[in-house]
Amino acid sequence: MPIANLDDIQLAYDDRGSGSPAVLIHGFPFNRSLWNEQIEALSGSHRIITPDLRGFGESESSSGTATMRRMAEDVARLMDALEIENATLGGLSMGGYVVLAFYKQFPARVSGLVLADTRPQADTEEAKQGRAQQAERALAEGMATIADAMLPKLLTPETVAKRPSVVKRVRDMMMSTKPAGAAAALMGMAAREDQTELLSTINVPTLIMVGRNDAITPVQDSQNMHERISGSRLVIIENAGHVSNIEQAERFNAELGSFLDG
Ligand code: MLT
Repeated sequence: MPIANLDDIQLAYDDRGSGSPAVLIHGFPFNRSLWNEQIEALSGSHRIITPDLRGFGESESSSGTATMRRMAEDVARLMDALEIENATLGGLSMGGYVVLAFYKQFPARVSGLVLADTRPQADTEEAKQGRAQQAERALAEGMATIADAMLPKLLTPETVAKRPSVVKRVRDMMMSTKPAGAAAALMGMAAREDQTELLSTINVPTLIMVGRNDAITPVQDSQNMHERISGSRLVIIENAGHVSNIEQAERFNAELGSFLDG
């Protein structure tokens, strides 16, 4: 597993395939293995880079709040280490928050955007309080409470009932997350800024994808982004919830592949 030594932290990542690079950022509380199906399907024809964000997977954790801005800076420093000037940046959910923070700081380094099951708005006050409670519980009790609360919101009821291997895969990913990393990211998501105004400044090709049954970042959020991002393409994936890239990997990969080809 490659490791990048950045200023204050070591980040694990995978770098597969060749051609124009696409950096795919996982959501919360996952890790770079979220993108296994995309790497398998697309790295034969594209270069796909998948970091573990700070505090996740095999990357180191940092103390304090892991802001979306900080995570975006980590991605930029990883690109520096790989001598990549610009890339397509894609993110699912929290990964999308990081991608929007990246675009805000480094627009010249973005050649295209993929915003999957995500949203631009900041947390409400109520949501911020919920994050603080979740962070405390993760630190006190471990990841099971978060995993059990999130699981039914991540997948469609049909997947929960009929695809035990998908349920196990998603739950195992969450359970393998370090509580300290999850708590730092929860505080970072609570502190994130509203990026709604940024959307109308986006001037690179943008693909927006969302599961029809996404219970965390509903279709309406993606429709709003689509209306604000000029020339963007919106794809609503049927029979998928929040982790649409896993639940309907074939459809997701077909759309992502043709976007990267274009
Ligand atoms: C994610 O999937 O990254 C999270 O559900 C995002 C969030 O909690 O806002």
